[in-house]
Amino acid sequence: MGYNPSRSGFIAGVRSSSTPESHYVPVYPSNIKRDAALRALAPELPCYVKFPKVVYNKALSFKRHFAGTTMYAVKCNTDPLFLRQIYRAGIRDFDVASIKEIALIHDLFPDAKMHFMHTIKPIEAIRRAYFDYGIRDFSLDYMEELEKILEATDHANDLSLFVRFAPPKNGSASIDFSSKFGCSAEEAVTLLQSARPVSQKLGLAFHVGTQTTDMSAYTRALNLTQQIIAEAGISVDALDIGGGFAVDYPDSTAPQMENSLLNLNKLIRDMGLEHLELYAEPGRVMVAEGAFLVVRVEQRKDNLLYINDGTYGGLFDAGKALGQQFAVRHIPAQPAITQQHDTAFKLAGPTCDSLDMMDGPFLLPNTIKTGDWIEIRNLGAYSQVLRTPFNGFDEHQTLEM
Ligand SMILES: Cc1ncc(COP(=O)(O)O)c(C=O)c1O
Repeated sequence: MGYNPSRSGFIAGVRSSSTPESHYVPVYPSNIKRDAALRALAPELPCYVKFPKVVYNKALSFKRHFAGTTMYAVKCNTDPLFLRQIYRAGIRDFDVASIKEIALIHDLFPDAKMHFMHTIKPIEAIRRAYFDYGIRDFSLDYMEELEKILEATDHANDLSLFVRFAPPKNGSASIDFSSKFGCSAEEAVTLLQSARPVSQKLGLAFHVGTQTTDMSAYTRALNLTQQIIAEAGISVDALDIGGGFAVDYPDSTAPQMENSLLNLNKLIRDMGLEHLELYAEPGRVMVAEGAFLVVRVEQRKDNLLYINDGTYGGLFDAGKALGQQFAVRHIPAQPAITQQHDTAFKLAGPTCDSLDMMDGPFLLPNTIKTGDWIEIRNLGAYSQVLRTPFNGFDEHQTLEM
């Protein structure tokens, strides 16, 4: 699914001949339509252009292709517009990480099942999750957390406990979580053995890291799953393969989601793990393609464009920490003939911090000037949720299409 700014819109239709029958390709309103809507709104603030249908179709496709229960990782985008699409696609399970996320899902979807999959939880949050919101599924990667869960739930006998282990290092992820979360294989064996007598359902969990483009990371994690279960010598009921599924960025090409899921289902069967109750916790892949962010050029200094959003706003991933590249498209303030996107620009955010700069490179026409807009694609994930009020630049606008 390459992006070509000179084309008017994306591939029309949801099927592409070189892909499996049911591979979903996002369909967007044409560039002409989007630009007309944008010029009519003339946003002075950063503006998310949202495509709820894209999120609906993506969620539907994930759910159809994964041979287990799909839970959506709420942290990735908490916008009720998107959450409702995910629910409409039939997803009733949600991975939550805080009481605020729990309350949000509870209020929107009273029949949803929530899974508290943050491995380090305040004791009060566990208590409220269990007693006020009926949550029974918790993850852990340390003995003290097991003790905390038992204490907070008054030693409940209806718990589903997931021991999260750290999979082998994964260089293809944009962020590998293993240094922060997940225990070693040896610790996982001990934790499983300790949790078994106090669990109604006992599971293993892993997360290979976000934006994983090399699916062999899942294979390595599944191999370790097998070893841990064999070593523990007890019955294990469930396996949560986490999130990590990727989308396309200019510097990072995602494997086709549907193919990846079918291959994973097969791998799990071939490894004799299909008796486990299966879960996945996708975040990014469900929503990233569901929103673009349109920013305005406030000043051009040669090849540096000062824009009205930055790394303290919706563009954290483009900043120094990750340096993620994004596909961009020039939208001149006045309609003009499309120019070649052949000049490399850097972007500077609106705050007074010089860390608030994005090296890209962002390929745009050399005619770009103050007052023009830039459409930045695939910002439905880890963007709106990361906005901060630093320097008073947290406001944004929305255009739903
Ligand atoms: C526990 C957990 N599950 C799922 C996710 C979603 O991951 P992704 O957006 O890479 O699919 C995350 C991301 O931080 C996570 O921490």
